[in-house]
Amino acid sequence: MALFRTLNTLRRDAVNLALHTLGLKKSKGRGKSGKPQLYRTYDLTAVRRPAVQAQPLLLPSSLLVSDVVRETADAVSVVLANPDGQAINFRPGMFYTVVVTIDGQEYRRAYSISSAAHHGDKVAITVKRVAGGLVSNWINDHLKAGDTLRVLGPSGNFTVTPDASQARNMVLVGAGSGITPLMSITRSLLETEPLTRIHLQYGNRSLDDIIFRDALSMLEQEYDERLSITHVLETPPEEWQGEVGRLDRATFARLLDGILIDNPLPELEVYTCGPEPVMKGVEEEVLSRGLPASRFHQEKFTPSAGPADASRFTAQPVEITLSGKSWTATAQPGQTLLEAGLAAGAPVQFSCTLGGCGRCRVKITQGEVDMPEPNCLLPEEKAQHYALSCIARACTPVSFEIDPPQSH
Ligand SMILES: Cc1cc2nc3c(=O)[nH]c(=O)nc-3n(C[C@H](O)[C@H](O)[C@H](O)COP(=O)(O)OP(=O)(O)OC[C@H]3O[C@@H](n4cnc5c(N)ncnc54)[C@H](O)[C@@H]3O)c2cc1C
Ligand code: FES
Repeated sequence: MALFRTLNTLRRDAVNLALHTLGLKKSKGRGKSGKPQLYRTYDLTAVRRPAVQAQPLLLPSSLLVSDVVRETADAVSVVLANPDGQAINFRPGMFYTVVVTIDGQEYRRAYSISSAAHHGDKVAITVKRVAGGLVSNWINDHLKAGDTLRVLGPSGNFTVTPDASQARNMVLVGAGSGITPLMSITRSLLETEPLTRIHLQYGNRSLDDIIFRDALSMLEQEYDERLSITHVLETPPEEWQGEVGRLDRATFARLLDGILIDNPLPELEVYTCGPEPVMKGVEEEVLSRGLPASRFHQEKFTPSAGPADASRFTAQPVEITLSGKSWTATAQPGQTLLEAGLAAGAPVQFSCTLGGCGRCRVKITQGEVDMPEPNCLLPEEKAQHYALSCIARACTPVSFEIDPPQSH
């Protein structure tokens, strides 16, 4: 049934509508809720920094593909530049939402910047094939130098702000394509913060799957006092002397023990990006050892499991407002506010659809919603009854205002 579309089908069907609405102004008014507002809150496991945005998100801009570099059999780096040569400003850790047209259909996907933030005339994103994946394979197979690529952003909250006076002690844990934002953070901080040290743990299946293998090894040689890299391989070659197995909680805990010999836990700042089990293991381990949640950061590339169990929900009426206009929808059991709103023709905006970018932010003026954690909303935004419509589901009748943040 149309109202029960999968997320990918929803992306396909809704993107034209969303693009059509991108020029709409932000609502400045408050909702007309006369009743006390109810909002179900959950513990934040990751506290994020406020997002910054280097370029407007309202309309995609076109960047020139100046090079496509094959990193591994399954991953390419796409080097991008402004057609007019202007610098591109971003914080290490940010991502672009790439808008591509394949067989006449538009698709959006988020790709983190892997290059250093201070080399702003060109930026690189690095895309690893996902088995059966539409956009990742298309980029790997078809994108070439001289093409243009439409993008939104850069944006995101999984960031650091380089500052030469900082003496950070960073633990970066990634696996597979999760290395991309960590690579940007590593490159940026090593060059701009002479007192910062980085411990990078990177898990892959095999030696050939290591993205940036040579670049990482060169960085390690150049910054041998400040960068230590531990590769963890599931199927290493015979001569492999390093870590073997999955980068799971037990492996991470052992490697962390080594780091803690010379580095006190409260000084560490932990960033992780990769498959869900890797991030979960890192999160559980560092928080159980007493690292403050504010020093733990994660970026999710894959949709969260979320409350997929539709039986937890019943159909709920939803009222949506924007600049004096209103739409009435019915959120079917388990449907997100975004899905319900788009199905009713409301111009709810979105980008990553994963709770990672904040583009779909709405203000709940009445009712109660369920939102899986972690997500990119800041504690203060939650306190002000904001929700991410792409992952929020109605537990009661809900009214919300479309109110995407200008800063995401
Ligand atoms: C903030 C953010 C930053 C990201 N940065 C990067 C990056 O730097 N490099 C990169 O390669 N990818 C990155 N991703 C993932 C990327 O956006 C796409 O999800 C991924 O390329 C798959 O898209 P697709 O069109 O090929 O697959 P789809 O056609 O969308 O999906 C095909 C199948 O693969 C599953 N799937 C979707 N995404 C993933 C995934 N990441 N891993 C495993 N299975 C998946 C889907 O559930 C589906 O079953 C990022 C995602 C987010 C949210
Ligand atoms: S669309 Fe990115 S958080 Fe909802």
